Amino acid sequence: MTSPIIQELDQHDTSSLVAVAGHPIHAMLVTFPIALVTATLGCDLFYWWWGDPFWHRAGVWASGFAFWLGILASMAGTAELLLVKGIRKRAASWIHAIAGVTLVSIAGANWGLRLAHPDAVLPLGLLVSVLGMVFVGLAGWHGGKLVFDHGIGLMVSGRD
Ligand code: HEM
Repeated sequence: MTSPIIQELDQHDTSSLVAVAGHPIHAMLVTFPIALVTATLGCDLFYWWWGDPFWHRAGVWASGFAFWLGILASMAGTAELLLVKGIRKRAASWIHAIAGVTLVSIAGANWGLRLAHPDAVLPLGLLVSVLGMVFVGLAGWHGGKLVFDHGIGLMVSGRD
């Protein structure tokens, strides 16, 4: 018997449209905000532990790049969501988008906080970084679920 996932793929194709040589651009880009949000938390912990201003400056750069590369990754994800009918019609895709947008907003708030109030890194910035990590986990895990449980973004169909 054909799996229900393959039956759904047959009805509405979920293959990635925003891809280079068959590789979804969103999947390639999300590694950057994931790594940089994690790096921001690392910088805050090192700054807390050692008090070296180097880690304070590194945190400003890490959070800034986490935000802007998160915007870039989200643009690729949003294009995919809006352009591909099989992706657009699944509730799971929209839940993932909400988690992703929340994560990017937290990354932006973290960067803005450091630019506007450099003295607020401890403890507020650290707490925002921890919240960012929680959403990296939620958005990242759920993104994987889209691919592995729902077959979204895979270049296959029931006919393959
Ligand atoms: C507006 C925001 C976002 C939208 C609309 C979105 C949409 C999507 C879509 C449609 C997929 C399926 C694979 C593909 O077609 O590329 C996906 C996968 C994924 N997304 Fe997002 N996404 C967003 C933001 C994010 C962010 C900020 C992260 C960072 C944690 C993220 C992490 C992932 C991961 C890890 C995958 C699985 C990729 C793989 O391993 O193949 N997404 N997303």
